[in-house]
Amino acid sequence: MELIDGKAVAAQIKQEIAAEVEQIVAAGGKRPHLAAILVGHDGGSETYVANKVKACEACGFKSSLIRYEADVTEEELLNKVEELNQDADVDGFIVQLPLPKHISEQKVIEAIDYRKDVDGFHPINVGRLNIGLPCYVSATPNGILELLSRYHIETSGKKCVVLGRSNIVGKPMASLMMRKATPGDATVTVCHSHSKDLVKECQEADIIIAAIGRPNFVTGDMVKEGAVVIDVGTTRVPDATKKSGFRLNGDVKFDEVAPKCSFITPVPGGVGPMTIVSLMKNTLLAGKKAIYK
Ligand code: GUN
Repeated sequence: MELIDGKAVAAQIKQEIAAEVEQIVAAGGKRPHLAAILVGHDGGSETYVANKVKACEACGFKSSLIRYEADVTEEELLNKVEELNQDADVDGFIVQLPLPKHISEQKVIEAIDYRKDVDGFHPINVGRLNIGLPCYVSATPNGILELLSRYHIETSGKKCVVLGRSNIVGKPMASLMMRKATPGDATVTVCHSHSKDLVKECQEADIIIAAIGRPNFVTGDMVKEGAVVIDVGTTRVPDATKKSGFRLNGDVKFDEVAPKCSFITPVPGGVGPMTIVSLMKNTLLAGKKAIYK
């Protein structure tokens, strides 16, 4: 069994990005600029956005954080989105999700100029992803591809089960694993809460990508010998031994599953650090206008 060290890969990629940024700046080019909008004080979102700002520093990017209280109106938020769309200094920006219930997430996502949508959530980027055109790919699936690639994990012709069908992980992940590319070319099955034979599907899988947000859902009996298991889960569970009072728990029962795997990602330190680095890669692409002019 080999542990996939997302933390180490992420650190290496950040160095690669930082080196490229210094080259760009030395040649008289523009330092990439990522802006983030954070609404309210959700603990998870606060942490994610703080980590994104920190990662920008490590990559040599400029970053801007725009904060609103949870009672901000949809109109006010949409006005800010439009302002960022028009701001030539901002190469890319994100609106951290989830948003308070009185604001339509879909409306906000669709208001973002797709050329600055470094999250890859806009329907134009989603559509382009699905037909194999250059686009911003959403961060978690892209980070997983990077791990599969850097660990030389064969995906062509393999049976891949994706657990979960969310717009930001499950669906784009399934699309990427089935595309004509490397990594890709897999036979993909997507399972979700209504799937009848989920356990059997997992038992037959060469690669399992678990993104359902249910701690310890994937147990030892569900995984075949030699499988590759990618754990996207990051549920906060209370833990009195931690300073924060909680720990992150994956979707995979690691102790049972790991001994059967050829490769597995730990939680934390697996997919998580790669997600943020994928956003940094998209921001670099945005700064270079590599995908859209
Ligand atoms: N909330 C959970 N994941 C993400 C993400 O990748 N981007 C944004 N904007 N919000 C999120």
